[in-house]
Amino acid sequence: MRMIDLIERKKQGKELSEEELCYFIEGFTGGKIPNYQAAAFLMAVCFTGMTDREIAWMTGAMARSGDQVDLSSIPGVKVDKHSTGGVGDKTTLILAPLAAACGVPVAKMSGRGLGHTGGTVDKLEAIPGFCTVMDRADFLRTVRETGVCVVGQSGNLAPADKKLYALRDVTGTVDSIPLIAASVMSKKIAAGADAIVLDVKYGGGAFMKTPQDAVRLAQKMVEIGRACGRKMAAVITNMDVPLGRCIGNGLEVAEAIEVLQGKGPADLREVCLVLAAQMLSLAGKGPADRCRQTAEEALDSGAALEKFRRMCAAQGGSSEIFAKPQSLYEKATVYQLSAPWSGYVRRMDAEACGRASMLLGAGRETADSVIDPAAGIVLCRKTGDAVKAGETLARLYTNRSDRIEEAKRKLLEGYEVGEEEPAEVPLVYKIIIE
Ligand code: URA
Repeated sequence: MRMIDLIERKKQGKELSEEELCYFIEGFTGGKIPNYQAAAFLMAVCFTGMTDREIAWMTGAMARSGDQVDLSSIPGVKVDKHSTGGVGDKTTLILAPLAAACGVPVAKMSGRGLGHTGGTVDKLEAIPGFCTVMDRADFLRTVRETGVCVVGQSGNLAPADKKLYALRDVTGTVDSIPLIAASVMSKKIAAGADAIVLDVKYGGGAFMKTPQDAVRLAQKMVEIGRACGRKMAAVITNMDVPLGRCIGNGLEVAEAIEVLQGKGPADLREVCLVLAAQMLSLAGKGPADRCRQTAEEALDSGAALEKFRRMCAAQGGSSEIFAKPQSLYEKATVYQLSAPWSGYVRRMDAEACGRASMLLGAGRETADSVIDPAAGIVLCRKTGDAVKAGETLARLYTNRSDRIEEAKRKLLEGYEVGEEEPAEVPLVYKIIIE
């Protein structure tokens, strides 16, 4: 078999066989197929696409390229949740203990921030002492004893994806539906859960810009998961506006605690309840509407918060954050951004919010940047809110006073203001179950 022949055939839009796709993935991961041939292949996929069978075959080969986690020693249906990435998306911090409080074990491997989007592992590490690195035996024991454990992805989980993603990032081949579907699902399949709920985001702050593309991506991922024997559901949610009011690692943990206390911003609570209902339902806890009620009760009774407390204790995190959540961000200096105009916030650029937060120190600009856990933004006004000139639009938290003016400018550019109140955009566009 020769890689040049595979590239030529893909360029002509022909379907490759399972054997050929395994040859590509194994050869590339093992260093036998050079980056320039892999990049040409990826670009051909961007232009001519892949059939459903090809995506499933490539995903399987990527999932088998490294460790495959065996969760069978944990009793019950293990449910995973994955978000395709957004700004202010702290749903995993809420959903993992929430599902566990409702009797569904959660053994979760999460990622770090990517570009302007935040990552769960970075958020958890804002909790002093919280450990996201565990050997496999400790990880499984913690889930058996506590019902939940969230760690970083092991270095050898789907290494083919890691290598391919790095190449896609620099060759303009990230935003291809087959490539994103294979990338996400290879990691999810290798991580071993029985059921997977996908939160597929669309809008200005997401990889998919339209709801139609998000549905197409979700359908592909659901099909791949089912072909691999997993129970699947996908929720398509809006990411034109950051979720909740906080962006930045410590601030987001504090906001997650608020939701776990039965309070917090309505949009964040709603997305969590919709996703939790699907997680519980896939785990066999009944129809989604009843599962939603169960989840609401767990938030309002404090059961989910108690589970988060136990999860933090089991993973070495300080309990001080519960008595004093402001300890998560008080090491930063706070700057106010005042509105220069009056009117309704008609639109926000979620990506600009993410980038402003990165400038303040909350995200990585290069692979080895160090994150400031206290840095970030609290949005006091979001889309649909009225504001008067001089009122606070946002509070910016940083230890980089040299960056503050640029961050303010970027954030302000992301606001569009007008006289008329904007039409409300539903948070949840569609749920794919069957
Ligand atoms: N998230 C992933 O894991 N992979 C992609 O390709 C895009 C988002």
